Amino acid sequence: MATQYSTIQPQVVEATRLPGICFKLSSLTAVIGVSFGVYMGVGGDHTLGPVHVHLNLVGWVSLFLFGLFYKFYPDAIGGAAVVQVAMVAIGYVVMLSGLAGLLLTASAAFMPLAVVGSLLVWLGFVLFFVIVAKTA
Ligand code: HEM
Ligand code: HEM
Repeated sequence: MATQYSTIQPQVVEATRLPGICFKLSSLTAVIGVSFGVYMGVGGDHTLGPVHVHLNLVGWVSLFLFGLFYKFYPDAIGGAAVVQVAMVAIGYVVMLSGLAGLLLTASAAFMPLAVVGSLLVWLGFVLFFVIVAKTA
């Protein structure tokens, strides 16, 4: 019995936690993305407009949709799904840090962050397609 619990439980925990992690990351990013929007709307400085756009559409909308997908298709949850969500989540933080640096300073030093982050986001979306194609 004890052996059964120790083998089954981690899978159950993982299967129930991934959508919640997506929803938490997503709604936290929405707070930051919408704050950028309010700052631009009220302050009139639109320099970081593209950061606002991608925070909201990659961070808020896409991560939320990943969460819904994994909630509807728990069978899709596994190592690949965790890597997929991590790639997009880490990727957009790196990409948008680089983009913010580029927009604020115009220094090419931020380019590698933007490029590496973009590639991570891109790979995360490619992997998501593979997971969806296998499951849905
Ligand atoms: C309080 C909430 C929000 C405020 C005050 C706000 C404000 C703004 C402002 C001032 C711009 C112009 C940026 C620029 O000139 O580059 C903008 C653009 C944009 N925002 Fe928001 N935003 C809000 C929420 C959102 C949300 C929740 C989303 C997406 C889910 C979103 C998506 C976009 C997009 C796609 C653009 C680009 C539109 C275009 O270039 O035609 N925004 N927003
Ligand atoms: C690897 C990931 C991505 C990269 C490198 C990227 C890059 C870009 C670039 C270079 C632009 C043009 C910005 C400009 O001309 O001002 C842009 C615009 C835009 N992107 Fe992305 N993007 C990515 C992912 C996404 C995703 C996943 C979404 C939506 C879910 C999205 C939504 C948009 C929108 C709505 C605009 C137009 C914004 C505007 O007009 O200001 N992007 N993106």
